[in-house]
Amino acid sequence: MCGIVGYVGSDNACDFLIGGLRRLEYRGYDSAGVAIYGGSTFHITRSVGRIDALAMQLGAVPPNGTLGLGHTRWATHGPATIENAHPHLGGDGEIVLVHNGVIENFQTLKDELIQKGYHFVSATDSEVIAHLVAESLKNTPETVGQPNLRYLNAVQGAISRLRGTYGLAIAFRDHPNFMIAARFGSPLVLGVGKGEYFVASDASPLVGRTDRIVYLADHQIAVLTPEGFSVLHRDQGKVRVNIRQLETDSSEATREGFEHYMLKEIYEQPESIRNAMRGRLDEENATAVFGGLNLTPQQSRMVERIILTGCGTSWHSGLVGEYLIEDLARIPVSVEYASELRYRNPPIENNTLVFGITQSGETADTLAALRETKRKGHRTLAICNVVGSSIAQAADGGVYLYAGPEIGVASTKAFTSQCCVLAMLGLYFGRLRHLSFERGKQIIEELRQLPNAIQQTLGCNEQVRDVAQKYQNASTVLYLGRQFNFPTALEGALKLKEISYIHAEGYPAAEMKHGPIALVDKETPSVFIIPRGTTYTKVMANMEEVKARGGPVIALANEDDPQVQAVADDVIHVPQVPEFLQPIVNVVPLQLLAYHIALLRGCDVDKPRNLAKSVTVE
Ligand code: G6P
Repeated sequence: MCGIVGYVGSDNACDFLIGGLRRLEYRGYDSAGVAIYGGSTFHITRSVGRIDALAMQLGAVPPNGTLGLGHTRWATHGPATIENAHPHLGGDGEIVLVHNGVIENFQTLKDELIQKGYHFVSATDSEVIAHLVAESLKNTPETVGQPNLRYLNAVQGAISRLRGTYGLAIAFRDHPNFMIAARFGSPLVLGVGKGEYFVASDASPLVGRTDRIVYLADHQIAVLTPEGFSVLHRDQGKVRVNIRQLETDSSEATREGFEHYMLKEIYEQPESIRNAMRGRLDEENATAVFGGLNLTPQQSRMVERIILTGCGTSWHSGLVGEYLIEDLARIPVSVEYASELRYRNPPIENNTLVFGITQSGETADTLAALRETKRKGHRTLAICNVVGSSIAQAADGGVYLYAGPEIGVASTKAFTSQCCVLAMLGLYFGRLRHLSFERGKQIIEELRQLPNAIQQTLGCNEQVRDVAQKYQNASTVLYLGRQFNFPTALEGALKLKEISYIHAEGYPAAEMKHGPIALVDKETPSVFIIPRGTTYTKVMANMEEVKARGGPVIALANEDDPQVQAVADDVIHVPQVPEFLQPIVNVVPLQLLAYHIALLRGCDVDKPRNLAKSVTVE
């Protein structure tokens, strides 16, 4: 949550800051601001709302300057107002700062600073850091011949008092051409250009500006000037950093003619699934191979239990993974909300693998849950999309999704790629145990057909649009499915809630009788996921039960299914695929349904209210 950017160089800082903030807008979009050093002081512009509003406020002639900071906010402390928007000033304006994270002891520090005469204008925890740096600077002596050192020492002194998380970029009115960035718990990336240096919450703002990046680690502090940069550890001095090559192609971060990122990402799924499988299907041995698991076959064979943990959509793919891995590999799997796991103290046996599933690799709860299980001595792995992200770095190994940037706040292609990776893990662990060579070969073949099946499913778009038209005014929608399609029902309901603000519930179809059926009336549609499979007749009976109570029924079913056709009011066709792969195909029309309903209701599909793509606070 919240995105920050910083620029030091010889170019116009404002261009990078505004462009960078647009790319980070998915992290929060309730207010935004920039500070640009204009020769004697900082010009600060802040606005409530999106980056467009900020750009408008900056006008045709934005402040000129070669050093600046910017921020896009997702409110934690204090509502979305101009006063609470960043950048924040410290002291009498000598410190200017942007912050991503949450400072837990801010109230204690604030009381102390108020006693010392500091005046607060916002309700944020971030303003506390700005004044704390000012206070620290006041108490830090000059070091002869090393003017930067005083500022660095002051920042070190201030951040040593913070409890919580921070990604910070700090500039100084009386020492311009110099910026400090610091990280603990919130991501921060440096861009290394020629005579210019960048700071950003992730690498996306750097695309097109530099392809040389440094991922800061926790407790690291970076000093940037137009002449160069250096990184040090908060307590251990200078650090030798690894400059990496940024591989993102800038076209991946644009909408490419689609009206919304979400729609583009839905349509990318045949390709993102291909990317998840590329190089990982080993025909010769009828298994899957993963370069980054860091497990020998002997160690993998010893695994007796798997825990899958994540949040939101990633938790749903974990539920799919539970069915998949237990079915294919016969290893007991439990799925945990990361936010619960981090504070629970469940007994975890030896030989348990803990997988954190995450698109962004930055979700605070998932990171904390992995760290806690790792601390207890368990092997932790990440199933992650963003290369070099905090969770990718914290885990002992893992599997990247290679789905490309996902910008729409509602996750789509990451979900299907996660499910695909989990299916391949099921194959891998299964082949180390009971799965025969022939069955392994068959699974590989079935996986290979998957992108075509998704492509075919996308053909239902028009049909889904008509269904959306019909049900756009519903105030509650039920999503029902069994077995592999139960998590799909949860995910379908989540998509609708997130972007159209319609109340939706996902339920195991048979469980509906124990409560949700009370909601059924002629205004409350139920979406049944009912492709052919082991529970087909059972779900059919559940569908009849809803119909008998006057509830409208939308069915996701295979073509040529007269039985479903006879009962459902509307049928959306999905191709028939093996049961274990059904969630990956069946979720696609549900993503489209949510998309079209949200569009018809005039909602902001890519940036739904109150949400953020990357939830870096608890
Ligand atoms: C937020 C996003 C969801 C996402 C969840 C977990 O709530 O809006 O789309 O599923 O975070 O994010 P992660 O990056 O860990 O998958």
